[in-house]
Amino acid sequence: MYNASGGRVDGLRGSVYFDAVPLVLALVLLLLTACSGPFPQSVFAPRSDFSSDLDGLYKNIFWWAVGVFVIVETLLLIAIARFRARPGAPAPKPVHGHTALEIGWTLAPALILVFIAVPTMREIFATSGHAPDGALRVEVIGHQWWWEYRYPTLNISAYNELHLPVGTPIQVEMTSADVIHSFWAPALAGKRDLIQGRTNRIAFRADSTGEYWGQCAEFCGASHANMRLRVLVQTDSAFQQWVDQQRAAPATPGKGSPAETGQQVYRRSACIGCHTIAGVSQGKVGPDLSHVGSRGTIAGALFPNTAETLHRWIMNAPSLKPGALMPPQNLSPQDLDAVIAYLQSLK
Ligand code: CUA
Repeated sequence: MYNASGGRVDGLRGSVYFDAVPLVLALVLLLLTACSGPFPQSVFAPRSDFSSDLDGLYKNIFWWAVGVFVIVETLLLIAIARFRARPGAPAPKPVHGHTALEIGWTLAPALILVFIAVPTMREIFATSGHAPDGALRVEVIGHQWWWEYRYPTLNISAYNELHLPVGTPIQVEMTSADVIHSFWAPALAGKRDLIQGRTNRIAFRADSTGEYWGQCAEFCGASHANMRLRVLVQTDSAFQQWVDQQRAAPATPGKGSPAETGQQVYRRSACIGCHTIAGVSQGKVGPDLSHVGSRGTIAGALFPNTAETLHRWIMNAPSLKPGALMPPQNLSPQDLDAVIAYLQSLK
């Protein structure tokens, strides 16, 4: 066999086949790794009334689309087979203005659109954000690039990690401290924009405990992709325990402990200009650190909360998260270790 430029291409078929094997293997591997690890950050794994409703609507529209696809493609294949040009056959007679056909192909799509539009409109109203009475109120405030959660009725705040009691309706009120962000925890709820000077709402009820990941879903600057979030859905008792812990005053370091040295370093560091630790500092630019030791992650849920990541983060935050407002800190290794010991003691 020859190709257009006259060269032989017989060998090509074999090489394409052999190149395809590793490619297929790589794809299978990719799919397998996508299945392992933490709970999938996916709208196809709904764990709340909100996301179950969206999933139901999606499947509804998907099957309408499948039906349309099958009918259209079948008609197309029939037309290709039956009306193809054959040698010696006369030219087909053109058809003009077939009233029944015209009515049919106007009415059928209109009807299908009604079957799609009605449930869609219903879902738009159902997810417009009005929780039933007795819902737990949570205010979500977007910052470049981290999340602040206030629980006005519980008088506590959380950062990046949203704790919620399972089975309780949640009324979420969203706004932004700067640019537009979008709250999205696919298994639970979202996306909804956070806009400065405006309050957007969603309401949902998580139906199983667990750890769910989400992220900002509206481009908001250099570290938009680094604006992750974690939602911890807990039993009532675990949630109450967490609330009590957050309500308590921050831990006081023991006499002569590394944490006590760390607190002294912290008091005279630049940290106090931006961070609050109740009774110690009152900065309002970055997250409150009164209970930073109780969090599982730091830096917009980007890194696990360990001595190693805290070390790298404090030394040079912008190198880990482009655009981060926290400048690199000039601390001696001893001072840095002490500050980390202090932060980790703030459970
Ligand atoms: Cu915040 Cu993207």
